[in-house]
Amino acid sequence: MNLTEKVAIVTGAQTGIGLAIAQRLAAQGAAVALVDIADAQPQARALCERGARAIALQVDVANEESVQGMVDAVVAQWGRVDVLVNNAAIAATIQLRPFTEITVAQWRRMQDVNAMGPFLCSRAVAPHMQARKSGRIVNITSGTAFKGAPFMLDYVSSKGALMTMTRALARELGRDFITVNAVSPGYTLSEGNLANEKFLATYRQAAIESRALPRDGWPADIVGAVAFLASDDAAFISGQIIAVDGGSVYH
Ligand SMILES: NC(=O)c1ccc[n+]([C@@H]2O[C@H](COP(=O)([O-])OP(=O)(O)OC[C@H]3O[C@@H](n4cnc5c(N)ncnc54)[C@H](O)[C@@H]3O)[C@@H](O)[C@H]2O)c1
Repeated sequence: MNLTEKVAIVTGAQTGIGLAIAQRLAAQGAAVALVDIADAQPQARALCERGARAIALQVDVANEESVQGMVDAVVAQWGRVDVLVNNAAIAATIQLRPFTEITVAQWRRMQDVNAMGPFLCSRAVAPHMQARKSGRIVNITSGTAFKGAPFMLDYVSSKGALMTMTRALARELGRDFITVNAVSPGYTLSEGNLANEKFLATYRQAAIESRALPRDGWPADIVGAVAFLASDDAAFISGQIIAVDGGSVYH
């Protein structure tokens, strides 16, 4: 899975699964833009110190102008975009609550970041990929959408939208030989999830018990599937959702 000469954008790359993905793509030779609403300069600098090509861009994926600026900056830096990983989301910070307590503002922001964000990022990179008749989009969805996990209806609905977006976009962009796939993690011990005590207490043991492989899942468990889908080896795979969850959901 050699990614040398590939240019990748990873959103939500300041921490957790996104950072692990950026590190893996860089280790396999890709130039990587670490995109986040938070400052990912230290993370990008650490990659450069290890000999990788990396930049950090502070972007709100739910903001149209901010997203266009992201793609313009990457193209100005490296001349192309080969890979987009739509990982940014309101995720580890979510609070479990009955759906009757979700406000309209909370619902809207969740959909804006988790569903519209991937739409905006995909729309902004598409012309560059279409011009080259190649590209890889990898969406990070969630096993909660397969399972219908309760008490986070706004989050689960946003990830369900991303799953169906993956399939429909695969057909639209496939005409230009751009693949669109998704990786669906199960409950994963990202730094953010380890800090969310209520979430941890509710899900950690339950997740282990739901798995064919009964152990914790870590960001490092997710990155191999993403790197594969980003590589030339996955050129004939599109519209797929790969669950990386220790064998918890089968679909
Ligand atoms: N950790 C899990 O258990 C798990 C399970 C299934 C799916 N996922 C998915 O994997 C991805 C990463 O999970 P994580 O646990 O590392 O999440 P996290 O919450 O720790 O990190 C998310 C990152 O996205 C960034 N972000 C949030 N809003 C943004 C915005 N508007 N614009 C740009 N960046 C923004 C955050 O600053 C953060 O760096 C998410 O898409 C999540 O839904 C995670």
